[in-house]
Amino acid sequence: MDRLIITDVAPRDGLQNQPVTIATADKLRLIDLLVQAGVQSVEATSFVSPKAVPQMADAAEVTAQLLERQPQLRSSVLVPNLKGLERAHAAGAREIAVVLSATETMNRKNINMGLDQATTVSEETVRAALGLGMRTRAYVAVAFDCPFEGATPQARVVELARRMLDCGAQEVVIADTIGAASPGMVRERTRALLEHIPAEQLAMHFHDTRGMAVANAWAAVEEGVRRFDASVGGIGGCPFAPGAAGNAATEDLVLMAERSGLSTGIDLMGLLAAVDFAQDLLQRPLGGRSATWLRRQRDKQLESLAAAA
Ligand code: COA
Ligand code: ZN
Repeated sequence: MDRLIITDVAPRDGLQNQPVTIATADKLRLIDLLVQAGVQSVEATSFVSPKAVPQMADAAEVTAQLLERQPQLRSSVLVPNLKGLERAHAAGAREIAVVLSATETMNRKNINMGLDQATTVSEETVRAALGLGMRTRAYVAVAFDCPFEGATPQARVVELARRMLDCGAQEVVIADTIGAASPGMVRERTRALLEHIPAEQLAMHFHDTRGMAVANAWAAVEEGVRRFDASVGGIGGCPFAPGAAGNAATEDLVLMAERSGLSTGIDLMGLLAAVDFAQDLLQRPLGGRSATWLRRQRDKQLESLAAAA
């Protein structure tokens, strides 16, 4: 069966901007639940300035402990520069993701560099990671709209994605950081990207700000994309991109895939257990658009089990 490959970014994108402080042990427990549900790839944390993102200050502990308890799990960590790479490598990380934004202003707000410098630093970081034998992903963020500059030119997104692959990144992640894309925009941009990038090296990362994350993912699937980021419960959002809501919910993408003849290897009821855990942790209702329906299915299953007992 045709397969979707989902990286759950909840531990990083989902938790980086939460108002409640989350203990390292709880972050690891959330990842355990994702693995139990069948998730095979996560973005575990980020090695960024703890002043910029206090919630990720425990990146080294998360990385080291995760390696011990889930040695078979594919996990990447976000790094913005060589210092982040050094810290990640020292903690034992085997895969990094660099974070290049497609506009001048977004790079300045996010990592305090202009577009040219951010591009050069991302290239240096990818090359250095490869030299250390690490796998690499490269984000191209604000790939549709930028909260500061408006529509992002398609040619620039294609060029930056190509540059990231040319310097050795194994996968490029096209990110709709503020959830501004529509299925029509995704179709057009994906076609342009696939003229220059093999589908195996292209992943998409959608946010659900305008309720179109699943429709956008489906538009990309129809164009041949099979790799997606998603976040369990739909939690997430960049602290430096005003108006960014949560990611596409993992459970929504898994349900979309299952009902469309694509496999993911991920169990929906297992994801629901992770959503419940995250909900307790963050002390607010969570879940993608399918969560109400999924919970009802779970209740029915429990009722019929009880009736049979
Ligand atoms: N991890 C930890 N500390 C770092 C670091 C990293 N990757 N990179 C730099 N620093 C430290 C420096 O050592 C220095 O510390 P000091 O004040 O104790 O001497 C301080 O941060 C400032 O260094 P500088 O190189 O001038 O960085 P900056 O202030 O220009 O900030 C970033 C640049 C990239 C470190 C910062 O903007 C950042 O962490 N951004 C994260 C963005 C993010 O996570 N966004 C959400 C996900 S996309
Ligand atoms: Zn994101």
